[in-house]
Amino acid sequence: MRFYPKHFLTMQELSGEEIIELLNIADQLKYEKKNGIPHPRLAGKTLGMIFQKSSTRTRISFEVGIYQLGGTALFLSPNDLQIGRGEPLSDTGRCLARYLDGIMIRTYAHEDVERLTEYGIPVVNGLTDYAHPCQVLADLMTIREYKSTLKGLKLTFIGDGNNMANSLITGCLNVGMSISIACPKGYEPHEKVLAYAAGFGDKFTLTDNIQKACEGSDVLVTDVWASMGHEAEAAKRLEAFKGYQINDKTLFYANAEAMVLHCLPAHRGEEITEEVLERHAGMIFDEAENRLHAQKAILIKLMEK
Ligand code: CP
Ligand code: NVA
Repeated sequence: MRFYPKHFLTMQELSGEEIIELLNIADQLKYEKKNGIPHPRLAGKTLGMIFQKSSTRTRISFEVGIYQLGGTALFLSPNDLQIGRGEPLSDTGRCLARYLDGIMIRTYAHEDVERLTEYGIPVVNGLTDYAHPCQVLADLMTIREYKSTLKGLKLTFIGDGNNMANSLITGCLNVGMSISIACPKGYEPHEKVLAYAAGFGDKFTLTDNIQKACEGSDVLVTDVWASMGHEAEAAKRLEAFKGYQINDKTLFYANAEAMVLHCLPAHRGEEITEEVLERHAGMIFDEAENRLHAQKAILIKLMEK
């Protein structure tokens, strides 16, 4: 089943051309924003935002984004919704579809987001345990800004084979980049993603050797060792991920002028050193800003009639 372009659930199901189309819209929206040109393309539309996990960037960039497009956002926390008291998602979804023009959801099970697509309004995945496609779209936008191209570049992800790794693998491969994942044994990306990546030959590599993964790399990316929902495993993971860090040594293995990206929030001293993060803060906060522009492009694509 393909959800895009009705819904935006994973990077895997977007072709390279479809990703580039979204990036072109995002670049244009960024240009208009910087130059004070209003773009009320979703005037009168309402986006419901269900957050079953914490968020700073996703919540604020979606809320501000729909406002800048002329629409309104509703922040829906499970503590306020009847979901928190056990009302099934299927009943919630059917009601929300009668009021809203779109739903953005951040939750645990990816299947819950897929189920929400059954009720007739566009659904955007704001992060599940499986995927974080909005972040990766912003990452690709940032890489293209700094490197002027995507095709042919190599990205290396160091750390947990989590939602970020899954979405980076599929997003990078679909736009013609190479990607290497360096992760400890037992923390590999999702098997569905690995099966997809296997179709791209040597453009994808998975290793526990950080040096090998970083050699020839144009972009180094990392993420927390314990994602939301894995807090109870934090101590065990601290042990398992020791050394899977972006620091001056890993940067030395990569190409000169390699970018460093982090979706944030960051745990300094764990997956990235303070010095490397601060030295690359310009691009890391551009990456955070680009969430706004990239997501506005997604909302326009899904909700503009
Ligand atoms: N990168 C990201 O999704 O940040 P939040 O968890 O703050 O939304
Ligand atoms: N992998 C992290 C990303 C946070 C934006 C998590 O799921 O918690």
